[in-house]
Amino acid sequence: MDNHLDTIQAEALVALESVHDQDALRAWYAAHLAKKSPLMIALGDLGKLPKEQRAEVGRRANEAKRALEAAYAEREQAIQAETLARALQENAVDVTLPGRRPRPGNLHISTKTLRHIYQVFGEMGFQVYEAPDVETDELNFGLLNMPSYHPARDMWDTFWLDSGALLRTHTSPGQIRAMREMYPNPVRVILPGKCYRYEQITARSEHQFYQIEGLAVGHGITLADLKGTMLNAARRLYGADRIVRFRGSYFPFTEPSVEVDMNCILCDGAGCRVCKYTGWLEIAGSGMVHPVVLRNGGYDPDEWSGFAFGMGLERPLMLKYGIDDIRYFYGNDLRFLRQF
Ligand code: PHE
Repeated sequence: MDNHLDTIQAEALVALESVHDQDALRAWYAAHLAKKSPLMIALGDLGKLPKEQRAEVGRRANEAKRALEAAYAEREQAIQAETLARALQENAVDVTLPGRRPRPGNLHISTKTLRHIYQVFGEMGFQVYEAPDVETDELNFGLLNMPSYHPARDMWDTFWLDSGALLRTHTSPGQIRAMREMYPNPVRVILPGKCYRYEQITARSEHQFYQIEGLAVGHGITLADLKGTMLNAARRLYGADRIVRFRGSYFPFTEPSVEVDMNCILCDGAGCRVCKYTGWLEIAGSGMVHPVVLRNGGYDPDEWSGFAFGMGLERPLMLKYGIDDIRYFYGNDLRFLRQF
């Protein structure tokens, strides 16, 4: 019987040598220490032995059991340590590797340019004032001195909404909003925003585009102030060599009205393809705020005067960067957008 127990113990210990993971360990336990293992059966059978052998064999069986349990515990620990070591090695992070550079996005060319414009006008004391894209007929036209019969309404082909409202055709309605909010203080604001016109989309015209409206209302403001503001803006935005000129024009909401031109950014006025050999590029429609409009904004035209301008955003950028199709601005083509 002692012999039998020696064999059981020896075989179990030999089998344990080849156990290297949790699963195998569990299987080993089932085979050598669990209920139906030879050792446990031997222990259970102690009662069948002749009385005088029982104590001695029992002692030996318990000794074998303790030995196997100790070997089991030791192997279990070894396996855990091995597993941990393997995991540490496999998941090791090499902190000396160079990082993967994230691909940062960049601001849209229009956003970048707008911010530059805010900066330039901000330095001249202009605040940014935002007005809504959806406007009323009254603000977009009526209060800007264009009653419903006014033929000048045809200058802007309009997107009408079912509600009777419209998508602003220019940023000028913001003039009325700004004046009404700021009265009786002097006004010096720029109003950036998208405008919408019911036009065919081509390489040269989009039905949505940005304008930057400017408005200054105060005491004793003259056309010279408008010219100085435009000259400074042109130089800050397009280079120190810019000069500007005024050309008589017509807008219902300004009197007098002028177009602002600057000398060509490419040829400095000599004449080239960009300026169509005129030497000049148009940058804004503008003029002195019409007395009717001042009054609609709450300002008495006998005491107050002001100038206003509306600058485009995309057209000058197209000239500056040689962009030959305005649709790129709204096309979301990253190959275009990443260039700026
Ligand atoms: N609103 C005019 C346009 O869209 C531009 C303009 C603004 C003219 C302010 C004069 C004064 O063409």
